[in-house]
Amino acid sequence: MKFLIVFVALFALAVAAPIGDESLAQVIRNESDVGPESHSASYETNNGISASESGKLRASNNQEETIYAVQGQYSYTAPDGTPILVRWIADENGFQPEGAHLPTV
Ligand SMILES: *[C@@H]1O[C@H](CO)[C@@H](O)[C@H](O)[C@H]1NC(C)=O
Repeated sequence: MKFLIVFVALFALAVAAPIGDESLAQVIRNESDVGPESHSASYETNNGISASESGKLRASNNQEETIYAVQGQYSYTAPDGTPILVRWIADENGFQPEGAHLPTV
């Protein structure tokens, strides 16, 4: 009887584990290139999430300083099925996201 219980428990674990793993999104691409004055990076998952960004040192808009400016985008499908795409810039003016679903100033 004990043997049967152990067998059933092991069988349950073996069956349950793959279901648990499949419910987690897998990263199918993850690349980055990081230099002293610039970088780029991107990733993608098997459930439709993707993101990419690149940044570099450049003069600020008023030419008074050197800043590290980054731009990128990310996209995914919202739970209601709406495709979401956000393009963003991060520089001396802060984080500036843009997307059809976001309010504009
Ligand atoms: C991509 O790889 C980097 C370096 O190993 C890691 O820090 C990062 O979390 C990974 N990104 C994803 C989405 O898996």
